[in-house]
Amino acid sequence: MNKISIHGEWSSKMAFILAATGSAVGLGNIWKFPYMAGQYGGGAFVIAYLLCIIILCLPVMMAEVMLGKRGRCSPINTMRNLVRETSQSKLWVLLGWSGALAGFLILSYYSVIAGWAMAYVPTLATGTFTEINNIPASEINDFVDSIFNSLIENPIELISWHTVFIIITMIMVAGGVKGGLEKAVNFMMPALFIVLLVLVGYAMSTPNFSEGFYFMFNFNFNDLLYLNCTETSCELSGEGLLAAMGQAFFSLSLGMGSIMVYGAYLPKDASVSKVTTAVVLADTLVAILAGLIIFPIVFSNGLEPGAGVGLVFKTLPIAFGQMPFGTLFGTLFFILLVLAALSSSISLVEPAVAWLIETGKFNRISASVTSGLLVWLAGLITVFSFNIWSEIKPLAGLNLFELLDYLTSNIMLPLGGLLIAIFVGWLMKKTVVAEELNSSIDSFIYYIWYFLLRYITPLGVGIVFLNAIGIFS
Ligand code: PHE
Repeated sequence: MNKISIHGEWSSKMAFILAATGSAVGLGNIWKFPYMAGQYGGGAFVIAYLLCIIILCLPVMMAEVMLGKRGRCSPINTMRNLVRETSQSKLWVLLGWSGALAGFLILSYYSVIAGWAMAYVPTLATGTFTEINNIPASEINDFVDSIFNSLIENPIELISWHTVFIIITMIMVAGGVKGGLEKAVNFMMPALFIVLLVLVGYAMSTPNFSEGFYFMFNFNFNDLLYLNCTETSCELSGEGLLAAMGQAFFSLSLGMGSIMVYGAYLPKDASVSKVTTAVVLADTLVAILAGLIIFPIVFSNGLEPGAGVGLVFKTLPIAFGQMPFGTLFGTLFFILLVLAALSSSISLVEPAVAWLIETGKFNRISASVTSGLLVWLAGLITVFSFNIWSEIKPLAGLNLFELLDYLTSNIMLPLGGLLIAIFVGWLMKKTVVAEELNSSIDSFIYYIWYFLLRYITPLGVGIVFLNAIGIFS
């Protein structure tokens, strides 16, 4: 299996790192990580998240890139090729299918949330939030709330932004691997990073920086395990741990084929361990920086860290409303957030698009249009779950958006990661794996990685799952 993918190849190792970082860094880091950390007790969530990244996700990421590099196709056909090569059961191809499905479901809501960020660009550019300086401090909270709520309660506006986002995503995907994507990421990642640093500088100047810092790095495991607390007692729950693991997989784009399909476009001689470590470091850094920006603003303005999905959309505008050049930085920030979301969204749909092309019945353009239409339609579920369907809660008190997010992040992605670990760790030939990694079998790094992948990752993911359904309580 030495062939090049029919879809093309990255022009260099660096291009892969940028594209994979583009996939990893997105709404997951800036929108989701802070609000989840806020909901699940701060420090405890952060440490669980970091542990999951190092122990579970880093090994899976190497394995997933390696699978793609070996199979050279969409995840569905990559698994088909590898099943043939290893003479394993055809059922393993389901891993590719579930990945394509997960990507599709995630993109359906990802696009709606990215639409919020798009909607905030004109809101900030017109200086709406500078109004904060003219109202009493006690009313700031209500002011930012009302702007956010009037957006999500308006289905027409949400649908419009969602439509724009899907169209841009599909144009980029239709452009192919090298075309627009590589170039966009090249400029975007450094720019996003710089704006984040400026914001950290602002957060450090707020009176409550240390409180925000403490909230994120104060490790209190009780917060994590004893979530269902009443005034008198706490019930053991692994829900927080499951959420941290789900977030780790989500943030690194793992377990669903995005990273696998990007691996399929990786030049043959690239060192998988080096490129993946770079991606993991960049992704983690951005998430931590986002937290360090958000929480000091939360505490300095008497907001609730557990405010949920609107957290970032309520805190950051306060900062932009008050800081010098805030209108400029604020507008720039939300533009960059949209770009970061775009570089993730293309990787969410690429597994399905690549597969459609491989069936021979589609070219890149018709494959992109078809997937785009389907995702757009599915996105309406999320749009309505914030307004006219907000009371529809089919399961466990979760509305439709929350259910989609829970199903994909907390179940499908870690399960995909678990299966990848088993397939690579136990079913593929060690020599083949080593060859694809460009590493000698007895090198130290390879040895540790293989050990983690075979034993620790499956065990870890398994324990978190069992813990969450209450087996250990
Ligand atoms: N990692 C992306 C983010 O953090 C989301 C994503 C998940 C992208 C799964 C691809 C696959 O926003």
